[in-house]
Amino acid sequence: MAEQRYEITKATRDKYKVFAVSDVEMKKFANVSVELFGYLKDAKKIDFKIYFRVDAELVEIITPKNFAAELVDLVIHSRNKEYTNLDICVERKDYSKFEHLIHHIREKKIERLLARDPNLDRKTIMTFADLSGASQMIVRGGINKTVAARAREAATKLIDGLMDCHVAIGTLSRMILIDATLYDHSAAVSMMSGIIAKLLMDKTPEEAEKIARAGLYHDVGKTCVPGKLLNKPGRFTPEEFEVIKTHTTLGFEELKKATAAGATIEKEVALVALEHHEKFFGGGYPQNKKGRFEEHANGIHEYARIVSIADVYSALLMKRVYKEAYDQAHSLAVMRNLAPTDYDPNIWSKFEQSVTQSINFYTAMERATARDKGRILMLDDAGQLQEINAKKNKSAS
Ligand SMILES: [Fe+2]
Ligand SMILES: [Fe+2]
Repeated sequence: MAEQRYEITKATRDKYKVFAVSDVEMKKFANVSVELFGYLKDAKKIDFKIYFRVDAELVEIITPKNFAAELVDLVIHSRNKEYTNLDICVERKDYSKFEHLIHHIREKKIERLLARDPNLDRKTIMTFADLSGASQMIVRGGINKTVAARAREAATKLIDGLMDCHVAIGTLSRMILIDATLYDHSAAVSMMSGIIAKLLMDKTPEEAEKIARAGLYHDVGKTCVPGKLLNKPGRFTPEEFEVIKTHTTLGFEELKKATAAGATIEKEVALVALEHHEKFFGGGYPQNKKGRFEEHANGIHEYARIVSIADVYSALLMKRVYKEAYDQAHSLAVMRNLAPTDYDPNIWSKFEQSVTQSINFYTAMERATARDKGRILMLDDAGQLQEINAKKNKSAS
């Protein structure tokens, strides 16, 4: 694959402050993901500077003075070209200001979302935003003791708060469809994994928390794979796919290193990074494992069998360079085709049933909202909406 390199033009040098930085000085700057940077489109002003890092030079591209939405668009456009030598960054001392602003914008987006679709569950969305904060920390700066503790805190909050399966699955799926900028893959996988573990498989809160945390870490190896490869439209060449596959082994190594340096990450949590692309009936990567680890040594760990279902479902909901965003029903249909080769039948059947109930629940909710706002509706055990007959209740009392 030919490398695409960004060149600082004379016009840029004339217009913006450009300066060389040593490796040591560069450590004072932190990279910002293009997804998070995109949030600045909704900002009115900023109180820090944004830089382009081009090899060993920095371009002071946005300052509080010249800040404008058009400039944000321009930066996103340049970054989307996937130059291998270009990053967006801020000074480390300003990162908390950046984070604070993003947090504020995300909250506003959430309020808009809830106003648009009143059937969404606020608590699910807030928990998701918190998981997303933890996931951004993992991607941004590598994993250390503090990041691992933050991941545990977010996963614990998720598990403690999970109550209703249909509402949680439905809210997560619909949120992504309505506002794709709120999507965060690892946070979505974490939440779905936690839901499967706690609500569908009756795991203890301790185990469910570990499984949700494994979801947060599962793709950490992708930070080692070139971004332009990950975002490539169309099919991968066999060579490119070999590189993509390494995110499993690299992620596992990364987590082992973090554990050795004092971060609390259990072996079975780290193992999910290695095994989440294995297929239940064989043919997955990197080790072509199959079946259950509980039953034989070449089997896949149960945590990875759960996360692999959450992973595919979450990926299908999101628009990618090569596909549109799918709704719940479409995502489930795609997964039904994969299930006979890819998933543990015991976990899959529970998941399939639950997503189906969630679809029915939200379809009924929508119909009810459109039909009559004055009636009282209740969710029964099968996930169906039942109307409470107000008159009957009155005469009975
Ligand atoms: Fe992956
Ligand atoms: Fe993934």
